[in-house]
Amino acid sequence: MKNVAIAGATGAVGQELLTLLAERNFPLKSLKLLASSRSAGKTIKFKGEDIVVQELRHDSFEGVDLVLSSAGGSISKEYMPSAVNSGAVVVDNTSYFRMNPEVPLVVPEINPQDIKKHKGIIANPNCSTIIMLLPLYPLYKAFGVERIHATTYQAASGAGALAMEELRLECVALAEGKTFNRTVIPHQYAFNLFPHNSSYNDGSKSGAAPTGYCEEEWKMVAETHKIFSDEHLRVNATCVRVPVLRAHSEALNIRLSKKTSVSEIYDVLRDAPGVEILEEPSKNRWPMPIDASGKDPVLVGRVRVDQSQENAFDMWVVGDQIRKGAALNAIQIAELL
Ligand code: A2P
Repeated sequence: MKNVAIAGATGAVGQELLTLLAERNFPLKSLKLLASSRSAGKTIKFKGEDIVVQELRHDSFEGVDLVLSSAGGSISKEYMPSAVNSGAVVVDNTSYFRMNPEVPLVVPEINPQDIKKHKGIIANPNCSTIIMLLPLYPLYKAFGVERIHATTYQAASGAGALAMEELRLECVALAEGKTFNRTVIPHQYAFNLFPHNSSYNDGSKSGAAPTGYCEEEWKMVAETHKIFSDEHLRVNATCVRVPVLRAHSEALNIRLSKKTSVSEIYDVLRDAPGVEILEEPSKNRWPMPIDASGKDPVLVGRVRVDQSQENAFDMWVVGDQIRKGAALNAIQIAELL
């Protein structure tokens, strides 16, 4: 039984962490909910009990065994070292520690063994990376992967609870012919899409993504190398935000090392942990974000031969960004711990 704290408990991922702790009957001795001073004093229901939200502070972690952190990178940078100093293990949902060589970056279905190397912090990968890698890893083991290109169709949830609310309100306003003042999302989001709004490297920044990439795209490359422990795997991505509330979709194009067939790929995917095939080709029915929303598995369909190159295949992948892309992966890490 563990004393657990959630940092960012009022956010989109924080709320899902609460749902999963209850659903999966996580062995809790106590649960502390932490957020900004704006939320301090509010109550949140957990298993029928009201828990008062407290302001996150450096001394919030006394007696806490496990911190599930999802309040943003700068907050993790500032406060998670205090959590480790007071003896807690942190499962961090932000990007801040992910590429730190001292910090394991873990998808439990892929590299659970890396958890053992932790020195107080374990990082949860980027949501688009997790959703891409869940079906990719069993194919990598079975056939070898030479190259992967992903195009993402990312939901509002990746930008947080306020972005989801803003998308809802903007849809209503625009449908009624009204104007809408955005505060979180940088461009019109309702009835529109745009290349991912994470920081773009115009060539003036060193150490970040290469010139022409946005950070989200480069996370998918660098994190895949770290999780697979394979720096030679060729990975590329184009990330796009679409006006969907909470599940990401991805079109994957993969080039395999060994010759294989569509049916052999389906055989491998059928047995892959955390992956589910969902499709009814005769009805033109393939995985959609609404199929994945609120569900654990990453859904796969439309596996087909890429006619333009040797030994290459396309597939369509959809996963709940808040669940497997964030909160579920973090809880699975905590369960393994
Ligand atoms: P709050 O609701 O009090 O602002 P999301 O990713 O959905 O945007 O959620 C972000 C989470 O991070 C929320 O729980 C938010 O709390 C929390 N948060 C934001 N800023 C801080 C801060 N300065 N200190 C602690 N928690 C913060």
